[in-house]
Amino acid sequence: MSENLTLEKSEPAETVPTGEKLLEVSGLTKHFPIYGGFPIKRRVGAVQAVDGVDLTVHAGESFGLVGESGCGKSTTGRLITKLLEPTAGRISYRGQDITHASRKQLEPIRSEIQMIFQDPYSSLNPRQTVGTIIKSPMEINGINPAGGREARVRELLEIVGLNPEHYNRFPHEFSGGQRQRIGVARALALEPKLIVADEPVSALDVSIQAQVVNLLQDVQRELGIAFLFIAHDLAIVRHFSSRVAVMYLGKVVEVGDRDEIYNRPRHPYTHALLSAVPEADLTEEQDLSRERIRLAGDVPSPINPPSGCRFRTRCWKAQDVCASQEPPLVQISGNRSGHLTACHFPEDPTTEAREEDIVLDKALIALEEDLAVPAPAESPEDAKAEVSKEAAAETEVEVTKTVEAEATEEAAEAAEDTADEAETAEAEAAEADAEDTADAEVTEDATDAR
Ligand SMILES: Nc1ncnc2c1ncn2[C@@H]1O[C@H](COP(=O)(O)OP(=O)(O)OP(=O)(O)O)[C@@H](O)[C@H]1O
Ligand code: SF4
Ligand SMILES: [Mg+2]
Repeated sequence: MSENLTLEKSEPAETVPTGEKLLEVSGLTKHFPIYGGFPIKRRVGAVQAVDGVDLTVHAGESFGLVGESGCGKSTTGRLITKLLEPTAGRISYRGQDITHASRKQLEPIRSEIQMIFQDPYSSLNPRQTVGTIIKSPMEINGINPAGGREARVRELLEIVGLNPEHYNRFPHEFSGGQRQRIGVARALALEPKLIVADEPVSALDVSIQAQVVNLLQDVQRELGIAFLFIAHDLAIVRHFSSRVAVMYLGKVVEVGDRDEIYNRPRHPYTHALLSAVPEADLTEEQDLSRERIRLAGDVPSPINPPSGCRFRTRCWKAQDVCASQEPPLVQISGNRSGHLTACHFPEDPTTEAREEDIVLDKALIALEEDLAVPAPAESPEDAKAEVSKEAAAETEVEVTKTVEAEATEEAAEAAEDTADEAETAEAEAAEADAEDTADAEVTEDATDAR
């Protein structure tokens, strides 16, 4: 496999999506209070985790939310899925205001919004079988699919690329990637219209990331499910999302069609983020001459963010007005329809900041080569060659799946051979896991109940 391969390019995205507005968020704010003082505790400040976020996700759309660690991505996702109560702002789902909706008011729609969590180890109950984990959202919501719940679970296992015969296995019998597939199957059990996926692949080995990303992409395209895809990896977000929002310190600083954001970014922070993405297809010389923007200083504290533009303490273009006036998120001159930027002195729209293709980590690229759909061939000979390449790639994927399944079966057989030892070790591990994952389970139960 060549190391210098780029990601499979997704279909060109609509600049302004035309589907139904599924989720509309405006002025969404979450300030976590900080208490101090002794003996009487009182509020001494707040972590301004999310501060006035506006975004819209359309039916069937894949919307990416990207930004550095701590910028408020997960908090935004948790506010949208109603795991957190917002401090201010409005969340509307299919035209219905759900900002402060009670559990009872959320009942008719709670099955339509699901979440996939970052950590496939702590997000699955170690004491339940895979069948029970995937079935329980259906039980909680009183859903009885035609053919029964067990048949539906087996069908879902197949959809996510797992063996339906593994219905009675426990999470510890699966690898990280397989566990995340179980998480996807659980999210699909209620036939959601919107999935909030919070860093769904960042806890996985890089060689497994592409498989799970491709699975999510298939689910999104084939089942028409809208995704709010949260990640800090720009290459993965580009691969998955048709529109992208860039967050910095609790605010969206730029949003638009994927190609606009990646090829014609206007916000200095977006430029800086993109310049840090490694490109494996460049020669050493090209790579050295490539513009890289190194941001000075750390991300300021969200407890006391800078006045005006929050990026000003690290921005090489900052002027006095940036400290006194917060730049609104608007369509500035030179932007295409739907491309909004919050900056007083944006970058030139003609600046082609990047090569067109953003390249992932080499291991991921190598895997992408197997899974990628080839570009249309130019001649009949080329077409034949492409068809056989595609068939070969499919066979290889199947082989990978079979090898994975066989590996799991072998592991299970080995475990049976050493049943006594394994049982003791597993019991101890499960006990430790249970303690470690107690918090996660509470969160999961809350999500499942949705
Ligand atoms: N429950 C909480 N109480 C207090 N502060 C919190 C809480 N949850 C998150 N924060 C703070 O809010 C800010 C945003 O956190 P959040 O987890 O949303 O960031 P993130 O963009 O998801 O980061 P990462 O990429 O590391 O997951 C951080 O400064 C974080 O410390
Ligand atoms: S508003 Fe000013 S400080 Fe903020 S990104 Fe634009 S130029 Fe930089
Ligand atoms: Mg997060």
